Amino acid sequence: MFHDVEPAAPDAILGLTEAFKKDTNPGKVNLGVGVYKAEDGTTPLLASVKEAERRILAGEMTKTYVNPNNGTADYTTCVQKMLFGADNAPGKAGRAVSAHTPGGTGALRLAGDYLRLNHANATLWLSDPTWANHGGIFSDAGVPTKRYGYYDATTQSLDFDRMVSDLEGVPAGDVVLLHACCHNPTGVDPGPSQWDALGEVLAKQKVVPLLDFAYQGFAVGLEEDAHAVRVMTQHLPELMICSSFSKNFGLYCERVGALTVVAADATDAKKVLSQVKRTIRRNYSNPPAHGSQIVTTILGDEILAAQWRDELKIMRDRINGMRRLFADSLDARGAVLGCNGNRFIVDQKGMFSFSGLGPDQVKALQSDHSIYIVGDGRINVAGMTTANMDGLCDAIASVMN
Ligand code: LMR
Repeated sequence: MFHDVEPAAPDAILGLTEAFKKDTNPGKVNLGVGVYKAEDGTTPLLASVKEAERRILAGEMTKTYVNPNNGTADYTTCVQKMLFGADNAPGKAGRAVSAHTPGGTGALRLAGDYLRLNHANATLWLSDPTWANHGGIFSDAGVPTKRYGYYDATTQSLDFDRMVSDLEGVPAGDVVLLHACCHNPTGVDPGPSQWDALGEVLAKQKVVPLLDFAYQGFAVGLEEDAHAVRVMTQHLPELMICSSFSKNFGLYCERVGALTVVAADATDAKKVLSQVKRTIRRNYSNPPAHGSQIVTTILGDEILAAQWRDELKIMRDRINGMRRLFADSLDARGAVLGCNGNRFIVDQKGMFSFSGLGPDQVKALQSDHSIYIVGDGRINVAGMTTANMDGLCDAIASVMN
């Protein structure tokens, strides 16, 4: 049976970490996968998380299944308050239902399975470019995908006119995936008034937005970064949101995320939730508890929550500091990545910089300098440190020559 299996290509992002681990060069740098590093090069376990875990372990009496299988009410309420604000109007009205999923990727796959099983005629529209895993998640789930214009590589900015005109051609009943903030891979987001205009376009087209929200708190702040979710909730009766606590709580390996669906009324929302729960049962049955307990413990305690917000701000500020240092260090070497200098790097939001480096340069960075970045030229700014910056910029200058 197994002899004729076709080997799969290494994953565009996780495959880099596998190759990086095998690399024996002591100067190697992994700027592929979107994982935050502190100045000392380690991925920190947040002090608020450690304290929450201490409390959880001290009080834990059972490892029984999480029931209901869409997660505890404590957890799904925390999720909704992060999305919709403390008043959680859609949740209180019964219009929003959430399911605790294994990470944001699990939420996307659950959304894909839900769409295929319940809305078989819907096509999912993805931005061009988008996260390297989006296409595969939805094609494996059996959801057809198409692309809408998003990024203008010549100006390294949002191609808003093309985006709008492509979205004006999306038929009613289709689903449009939007990155709620910190667009992956480009780091280029629509501004507040552009989100408003997008909400109007989607409402007019009668399409359902699916917001991929993996980086809340990494662009400007927790509330500011929720702008797209709030605007879409105002403009549209129905939407889907895939959110994640991997990055903003540093809970990568705990796989803690959520699929939230907002329906036109509470009756519809209940029906959707019943289908979501059925799909979870047939897939992974029920979610892993630990990560969600960490989130509810922190957000349920004012002091721990304030400590976590400070820790999140430290991560965000460090990334922005690295953006400035990266641009300055490239300037100092006369290595210009943008059409108008290197300032675009400072303007991008979130963990990533879409550098504009081509496939040959990306390959040379890896083979000649042991610097690992994604094949589309995406660099994880959150993995840069003062210590690895000179080596990185020397290597970029050298492959550009
Ligand atoms: C990334 O884009 O690097 C992150 O979202 C991690 C992943 O799973 O790819």
